[in-house]
Amino acid sequence: MHSVGPLAVNEIKTEFFSSRNSEPMKFIDLFAGLGGFHTGFANSGYECVFACEIEPHLRTLYKENYGIEPHGDITKVNEAEIPEHDVMCAGFPCQPFSLAGKKKGAECPASGRLIDHVIRIAKHHTPKFVVLENVPNVLTIAEGSFWAYLTSSFSEIGYTIHHKVISPVDIGIPQNRKRVFIVAIRNDLDVGSFEWPEITGLAKTSLLDILDENLEHKKLEPAKVDLLKHWQSLLNQLALDRLVCTSIVAPEFGATYPLNFDALSLKEIKQYKGAYGSDLSQCVSWEEVMALMPSYTRKNRAVSNWLLESVEFSRDLYQAKKYICDAWAEKIDKNYNSWQILEWRGIHTTMDIYEHVVQFRASGIRILKPHVAPSLISMTPTQIPIIPSQSRYMSAHEAAKLQNLHELPNLPETIVGAFKALGNAVNAKVIELIANNLKVWKTA
Ligand SMILES: C[S@@+](CC[C@H](N)C(=O)[O-])C[C@H]1O[C@@H](n2cnc3c(N)ncnc32)[C@H](O)[C@@H]1O
Repeated sequence: MHSVGPLAVNEIKTEFFSSRNSEPMKFIDLFAGLGGFHTGFANSGYECVFACEIEPHLRTLYKENYGIEPHGDITKVNEAEIPEHDVMCAGFPCQPFSLAGKKKGAECPASGRLIDHVIRIAKHHTPKFVVLENVPNVLTIAEGSFWAYLTSSFSEIGYTIHHKVISPVDIGIPQNRKRVFIVAIRNDLDVGSFEWPEITGLAKTSLLDILDENLEHKKLEPAKVDLLKHWQSLLNQLALDRLVCTSIVAPEFGATYPLNFDALSLKEIKQYKGAYGSDLSQCVSWEEVMALMPSYTRKNRAVSNWLLESVEFSRDLYQAKKYICDAWAEKIDKNYNSWQILEWRGIHTTMDIYEHVVQFRASGIRILKPHVAPSLISMTPTQIPIIPSQSRYMSAHEAAKLQNLHELPNLPETIVGAFKALGNAVNAKVIELIANNLKVWKTA
């Protein structure tokens, strides 16, 4: 174990740069998952000496891919049994901090305090560097108290924290995935400032570059193929120049109900039109009224704030092109609420769905720019990105390219399992670049 007491500058250099000069630097991989840290550090020439991962199927896969059998639950790992190492990597679980989760932060009983085990192991081994990755929300959650806890805990055991939010798109990989990368440097080594990887910008990225043209892919279901065609026909007929960050909310075609009708009596609401202009005048109860209202008003008898602008836009569109909208609305599949909302997050200058990437979200059909894939998250099967021009889903291998994990011999067998694990993984290229910059310290 290293002592982290104060050293004179000369002593620092001798102690640090003479250590294991000819051997590769060693690292450990906590919360190993698919091994984004492993791939990145191994590509940079480091050697993995220990890993831990709680999920049995990910442990099996890790063994197959890297030849190392990970230990299980970190809370049960005896720190004294972990081999000596230069770098500790820990992609601690992000669900407690993610904007998509319940945001309990360190209070989350299941995994919010797993950082304490990272600190426990770091305190025992005092590796030269600790590299962590998580969602940027760790910086601000609970009014910054988790971040203050993390930095002060590392400070107490003799480290200085550096952090930076980086997305793969910043280094030329077509995926939007902002994550905070944290590098804790042992104080006795801190003879200069840490250089983060160079940001190359997103100008050159295109999702088309990572598509595997000649492989078998999961085809888009015929009903979805038809649905996209139907939406495209509306866009063509409306001949809109652009649709900027707004959704077309089809149930508003012909609707006249007040956007907040919570205070209205049954008699009053009956004078209005519901979804797709449905006649409310014959309704004898609120139950009957609400059955004819758009689904997004059903909770509060009002349009939610996030949809207001789009609802107003869609009503204006209807007023301007009533006949087109009515004829189109007759043929839209009304079985799924989310299929009736087109969320345009695409290129501003073309209204062609087929030049985009599509995602079926609970809130609507999302049209995304083709330059970058949406952040891979632990997606439900329906959220797997779609390449509409090829009527197919993105494949697991293509998703692995977005994480720079495509050279792994094995991915989880099902497409859903693969997307889940890839959505949890760290981008291995970002890690490789960070690992390269840590090595500079050894050889400088
Ligand atoms: C954010 S993911 C990290 C993924 C990894 N960095 C990668 O590139 O694939 C967190 C991982 O921690 C694992 N995990 C959660 N609780 C754990 C625990 N108590 N002990 C060990 N691993 C745990 C999860 O199964 C998950 O694979």
